[in-house]
Amino acid sequence: MIIAGGKVYTPAGLSEVDVHVNEGRIQSLEPWAEPSARPELVDARGLWVLPGAIDAHVHGRDPGFPEKEDFGSLTAAAVAGGVTTVLDMPNTLPGVAGAEILEAKRREIAPKAMADHGLWALLRSSSTAEQVRELGEAGAIGFKAYLGYTVQRSTGQVLYTPGGMDPDLEPPASYGTVARLAQELAETGVPVAAHAEDPSVLLSSTGRIETYADLLASRPAAGEAVAVAAMGALARSLGLRVHIVHLSSRMGLEAALAERAAGAPLTLETCPQYLWLTEADYARLGPVMKMYPLIKTVEDREALRAALLRGDIDSVGTDHAPHTDEEKLRHPLGEAHAGSPGVQTLLLSCLELARQAGDPLAAVPWVAEHPARIFGLYPRKGTIQPGSDADLVLVDPNQRTVVKAESMASRQRNGVLEGQEFAFAIRAVYLRGEPPAPGRGQFLRPA
Ligand code: DOR
Ligand code: ZN
Repeated sequence: MIIAGGKVYTPAGLSEVDVHVNEGRIQSLEPWAEPSARPELVDARGLWVLPGAIDAHVHGRDPGFPEKEDFGSLTAAAVAGGVTTVLDMPNTLPGVAGAEILEAKRREIAPKAMADHGLWALLRSSSTAEQVRELGEAGAIGFKAYLGYTVQRSTGQVLYTPGGMDPDLEPPASYGTVARLAQELAETGVPVAAHAEDPSVLLSSTGRIETYADLLASRPAAGEAVAVAAMGALARSLGLRVHIVHLSSRMGLEAALAERAAGAPLTLETCPQYLWLTEADYARLGPVMKMYPLIKTVEDREALRAALLRGDIDSVGTDHAPHTDEEKLRHPLGEAHAGSPGVQTLLLSCLELARQAGDPLAAVPWVAEHPARIFGLYPRKGTIQPGSDADLVLVDPNQRTVVKAESMASRQRNGVLEGQEFAFAIRAVYLRGEPPAPGRGQFLRPA
């Protein structure tokens, strides 16, 4: 196959080359040839050819919660939005805390997968060195520590259920878990990701949460700053690579940058929702907008945007976290499930944000090269160069897209970017040189 006549993304800018694909890989980039009617030729004139996007932060709910999502609907939404690789979070059922669970999940999702996929492992307070080693050998893409989640010991119940964590899970990982297993974690070579909201700063609000202001008061930005600083200190002192996911606040960002300046090996992710929205959007969106961490103030949004644009934040992932309508609309607000879908709008929302700042192509590394490097997938993924997988997205820079629930492939169609308009449209997507289809997605191990 040859993708001919398009403008192809390179880190130095758009290049007028044809992309020659052979056996799912990019074979060569050749100067534009004369258009011809050869059947293996895809006419990309007028289009941009971008590397398939990587969403390193999705909650696919499979196995365990098909009423929210499964790997088929997750990856259908992903590829519809130009995301050809997803890294799936471990709060499925059972939580991915052991190699045999990871293997079983891998087998379960394979026939449904339309996108290539890596799997996150779950750290628990009871995790052992052996489990960490085995998960590393099984190909876990990273280890996730949900610092902010608690389990009611008396009943064994999860007090806050982040999208349906296994109620039998023991108390989630603490800073101490990370410190205890630091050596084995470091030896796996993959990052430890922290849901950075310090559990003891989050006021365990017993009162009713009725308004968005109540929610904000119960989960302040200081919780993020404290957890980020703690993880930075652990990374620094224990030689651990730490990835801070879904950074949502100016204070959290400042803590991360201070730790990094002091030598902590930190990489940083934020999400489209924190770049596009503020607390003021609650009046329009309602409980659809409830997610942890919370969408915060306009100052937080502006600080995150500026940091991303100047290169201080490495990547953008969505924290795609679908729930049923019934779960999202529960009253009072404190009982509504936290999390919203987003994988389908990752690429276009980032291109639009960067366009508004002057250069749409500045967004490509946020969703391609940078996550590929963080997760050991570069240069197989995240770049268009000979030898890389032919994961390609054809984007039309002259056609607009308006986000509409009815166009969403996720089982939960109501996302927080509903109604946003992007100055781009996705025209075609290739996964290793072919149109994505169920069962074509492959399991990815970090290199
Ligand atoms: O809002 C959230 N939803 N935050 C999380 O960390 C988990 C996620 C989920 O799985 O639903
Ligand atoms: Zn998440």
